[in-house]
Amino acid sequence: MAQWKYREVYDYTEKILGYLLKHELSSEEIKWFINETLEGFQEYVNPGFLRYRKSVTKGGQYAAVEWKDSGPNCFMDITGKEYIDCLGGYGIYNVGHRHPKVVKAVVDQLSKQALHSQELLDPLRAVLAKILAKITPGDLKYTFFSNSGTESVEAAIKLAKMYQNKRGRHTFIAATRAFHGKSLGSLSCTAKAAFSVTVRLK
Ligand SMILES: Cc1ncc(COP(=O)(O)O)c(C=O)c1O
Repeated sequence: MAQWKYREVYDYTEKILGYLLKHELSSEEIKWFINETLEGFQEYVNPGFLRYRKSVTKGGQYAAVEWKDSGPNCFMDITGKEYIDCLGGYGIYNVGHRHPKVVKAVVDQLSKQALHSQELLDPLRAVLAKILAKITPGDLKYTFFSNSGTESVEAAIKLAKMYQNKRGRHTFIAATRAFHGKSLGSLSCTAKAAFSVTVRLK
């Protein structure tokens, strides 16, 4: 595989960024981007994606390449075809795509501060934890914030291990067809044998 020089990386990313900012792409540009996406998955992500996705025809002569949201409940591919979103980001779009209030809140916060310092006390974490304690049932009080489902499952595994290992219990039970994320611990709790036997959590 021929390695790229810095200039080639720069030119390529400039081209992509230019396309992303354009309101309309020409049919040549659309064709180029679809082929580029197919080649990217085939050569650099995982060719398996192209085999099982329903958005790619057998042989890959047609591929629906996603491009943008289209209204609160639809998205659009690069050719302008609209799709109803029946997945809703696994639940994250419970107020629809790009709800103006959500977009405004994100922009407002980014304009104020993009990331907390990791050293001073983050007030938003304190108040959100309080709200969560007040609205969840029972006596659960402390909140551990994470960036993803995987991290949350990982934290749950660690807590369970800390508590149960002392009692001589080391087994985790996963429901058939369960999926819990892609990190070492969460993947090991996946029911699929190929993933779960690779690592023992003991
Ligand atoms: C049930 C379940 N647990 C955990 C995860 C992993 O979450 P994330 O992709 O945010 O790491 C998923 C993701 O699809 C999930 O469906």
